Amino acid sequence: MSANQLHLGSAYYPEHWPEERWCGDIRLMREAGLTVARVGEGAWSTFEPAPGEFHFEWMDRAIDLLAENGIQTVMGTPTYAPPAWLTQRLPDMLQVLDSGRVVQHGGRCHCCINSPDMAYATRRIVEAMALHFGRNPNIIGWQIDNEFSRVCFCSRCQALFREFLAKRYGTLDNLNRSWSTAYWSQSYSSWDQIPIPAEPKHNPGLVLEFKRFVSASNRRYQKLQVDILRANISPQTRICHNFMGWFDGLDHYEMNEDLDLSAWDWYIGTGHNDYLSTGVIHDLTRGFKRHNFWIMETQPGSVNWSSINNMLCKGEARSMAWQAVGHGADAILYWQWRSALGGQEQYHGTLVDQSGQPRPFYHDVKDLGADFKATSHLLSGSQVVSEVAMLNDYASRWSIQYQLHHKDFNYVTHFTHYYRPLAAANVSVDVLSADDALDGYKLVIAPALLILNEKRVRHLKAFVERGGHLVLTLRTGMKDETNAMLPVRQPGALAELAGVEVVEYYALTEKVPVSGDLFNGTTQIWAEILRILDERNTKVIARYGAANGWLDGQPAVTVHKCGKGVVTFIGAYLDDAAQKLITDMITTAADVDGVMETPLGVSACRRVSPAGADIFILNNHTRSTQHVRLPWAAHEHLGGRDVGTAIGLEPFGVAVVTKLGMNSGAGAA
Ligand code: GAL
Repeated sequence: MSANQLHLGSAYYPEHWPEERWCGDIRLMREAGLTVARVGEGAWSTFEPAPGEFHFEWMDRAIDLLAENGIQTVMGTPTYAPPAWLTQRLPDMLQVLDSGRVVQHGGRCHCCINSPDMAYATRRIVEAMALHFGRNPNIIGWQIDNEFSRVCFCSRCQALFREFLAKRYGTLDNLNRSWSTAYWSQSYSSWDQIPIPAEPKHNPGLVLEFKRFVSASNRRYQKLQVDILRANISPQTRICHNFMGWFDGLDHYEMNEDLDLSAWDWYIGTGHNDYLSTGVIHDLTRGFKRHNFWIMETQPGSVNWSSINNMLCKGEARSMAWQAVGHGADAILYWQWRSALGGQEQYHGTLVDQSGQPRPFYHDVKDLGADFKATSHLLSGSQVVSEVAMLNDYASRWSIQYQLHHKDFNYVTHFTHYYRPLAAANVSVDVLSADDALDGYKLVIAPALLILNEKRVRHLKAFVERGGHLVLTLRTGMKDETNAMLPVRQPGALAELAGVEVVEYYALTEKVPVSGDLFNGTTQIWAEILRILDERNTKVIARYGAANGWLDGQPAVTVHKCGKGVVTFIGAYLDDAAQKLITDMITTAADVDGVMETPLGVSACRRVSPAGADIFILNNHTRSTQHVRLPWAAHEHLGGRDVGTAIGLEPFGVAVVTKLGMNSGAGAA
């Protein structure tokens, strides 16, 4: 997919419509400024109506027509929607639920991705598509399958899970020891005794490994397709998958290793965009490959699957699109172009309604089309640059999720709690894998990094030794990679770095006061008592107030000077006001600034051109007009005018500004 263009597009399903209607649809796409259409991912039964009988000519004609209108294509492999003839002939490929029920044909994603029959059928359709479409110059990218999320409990998956465990643990002795299976007499004397976790209460080691197994199964299935495509498609054509943001069913870092480009599907469902919480999902996706990404699907105003399928406000989708671009998106595609007359998603939002006429929402997209046309060149090749990294870890999340200890503890909410004050101050953040190296950052925040391994500890130590500021939070350093408790107090091998250890952790039923020089606040959900290990270099920033007796007066937040670096340990789950104050303290100490000052409700993001020029995206997320003072006289690129040092943003208004004098060709160098 072209790296030199900001793309606007939509999912388009020509197979839903008689061919004579395509022209009208595609004309409307062109008029809205669309430059890309994603096709094909649901079309298996139209591509291959009977075993080995392929019909691709109709899609060739659709791709040609799109290209004649200046619209390039992303081709999807249709393997999330196997046809009825296939599952009828090979019923063994159907997915089995944890209840033991075999999934019926009639929905989608109804097959076991570990099934050899499914692999055979997948190979056949993907190979045929790759051979047919692989060299088509109008296809700029391939999407594999659609939103991987499948988990199967069939006997084949059961057997493969045991093989997976045998490879990871080597011997049963090792597995029994790692999982403490003497507990409740679970000791295994043969691999085939180990169950697949269909019951709600299983050994934590088994549960964590099953998550890894499911992720590895999806990766293998994805790789099967990647390899076929790579061997047959043009080398410059990029391969991606549309992931689901914070979806927890996959290790997205591993999944993305085999892909060229990260992409995600951004849906709000009920309500409106809360930009302080959604920015982190873009940053997460950008972190999968540490590069710009695509929004492969987003809602054209409304969806059909939420509790209330309300419409976004006029202008809100445009603002969302620009928010994504500000965080590194190079493409925004709506799902879907036109309401199909039948099928399960009749009421979903679209750009064009069932009659073929543009919906009111179409005009928001048309505005965006004009925006992208005006700025595509400017933003071409530009990247987001951050001084702050937040560390994400699927294994820690899986472990916590299985043993919440407090029903309201949610890994993502806790992570976002640390992100929101940074977002409010327009601090740019990279979300990285907890296993990534941390060179070049000033501040690293590792929320609830429960599981430690040698690599993580090494990277964090090196980061602090070089003078970095590290923030560790509650639940850190509790477990090893087999989900066993470490035989030491939290934060395990990070204790020396932190200058403290955790004496005890408490799930809370009520708020507990936490106060110090910086704030008088509260903690909720969780509280950890910290014991100072390095008296000379550790300062207590806040202590718990009167609570359950155990916590009263005990250290809650500490700062440890460790060589050239600093480690802040936050054992409390602070209220929003206190969280903001401590974030300000940390960013000041770490010498981290926001990209620009804006009123609350307005965000500023920065992308840096290949020539090093700063491009700022200002975004009013509110329903009232807002004014931003700029630090220099600017050129605004959407309106194409010089604006001096003040700019007004209408409700959901957006501005793309550069310092005056840099208004042409920032991205061209
Ligand atoms: C996505 C899916 C699309 C469509 C959309 C509706 O999860 O990939 O095919 O169903 O949801 O919101």
